[in-house]
Amino acid sequence: MFIFLLLSIVKCSEFTELMSNRQTCPKQKGSVGDYKMNVLANFWIGTACLRDKPGSGVGPVRGTNAVTIHGLWPGNNASSWPECCNNSYPFKPAEISGIADLSKNWVSTQGPDNSFYTHEWEKHGTCAMDLFHTERDYFSSVVNLNKRLNIAGIFRAAGIIAGNRTYSKNDVKTALRRGLGHDVLLECAKVNGISMLNAIYTCIDHSPSLNVQECTSDYKSRYEPKCPSSFILPAIPDSCYK
Ligand SMILES: *[C@@H]1O[C@H](CO)[C@@H](O)[C@H](O)[C@H]1NC(C)=O
Ligand SMILES: *[C@@H]1O[C@H](CO)[C@@H](O)[C@H](O)[C@H]1NC(C)=O
Ligand SMILES: *[C@@H]1O[C@H](CO)[C@@H](O)[C@H](O)[C@H]1NC(C)=O
Repeated sequence: MFIFLLLSIVKCSEFTELMSNRQTCPKQKGSVGDYKMNVLANFWIGTACLRDKPGSGVGPVRGTNAVTIHGLWPGNNASSWPECCNNSYPFKPAEISGIADLSKNWVSTQGPDNSFYTHEWEKHGTCAMDLFHTERDYFSSVVNLNKRLNIAGIFRAAGIIAGNRTYSKNDVKTALRRGLGHDVLLECAKVNGISMLNAIYTCIDHSPSLNVQECTSDYKSRYEPKCPSSFILPAIPDSCYK
């Protein structure tokens, strides 16, 4: 367990941690509202499917965009963020029932959606309870933010299509900057030897209106070097759908 925790800290990988750390919140770090900004983390479903090979009953439903929410993470900078700020508010599945388009906007490729949501709420969402007073408010607000930013629509408008075509990092970043008004950070992964877009991080201010803002340079130096100058944005494989 210690090795796993250590690995997940070293790799700073949410996914590694999600898999290895069954208890989402062993330890509180920081407190509600004590952070400078937020990061909207999105991931590319096709890449996650090829890497995770989700089993039956896991993965996107038909009609899902190629890019999905990972979470909205309150933070101070690339190496400091609060976690697990309210252990007296565990995730309750009933609270999110009926949120429109939740399952189309926020997809797990590693296990049941509710396990993923438990992690995102307990670890990150509880720290932003100054903005989102309830679990339901967190999930519905982040879905609305995701729809407002409409990264899938920005890609469509720029002619960037999920599939095997290679795009330059520059073109992808330029399209997103035009659409969002600010730079975003791209993260790539190598799956079967092929470089693919893995994640998009958009910096968001610490305010109820959740405005996009420029990411500070420490975020840029953490994520930017991870993408080569060109990569593919794989389509969701047919076998990945629930
Ligand atoms: C990150 O934020 C924490 C908490 O505000 C601060 O102590 C630390 O110096 C910051 N680090 C960087 C690299 O800005
Ligand atoms: C933690 O969550 C409970 C609800 O379970 C709420 O009453 C309390 O105000 C929250 N604490 C903070 C610091 O927001
Ligand atoms: C992309 O390439 C893979 C492997 O070469 C292939 O299996 C798949 O059908 C291709 N997908 C598309 C959309 O062309």
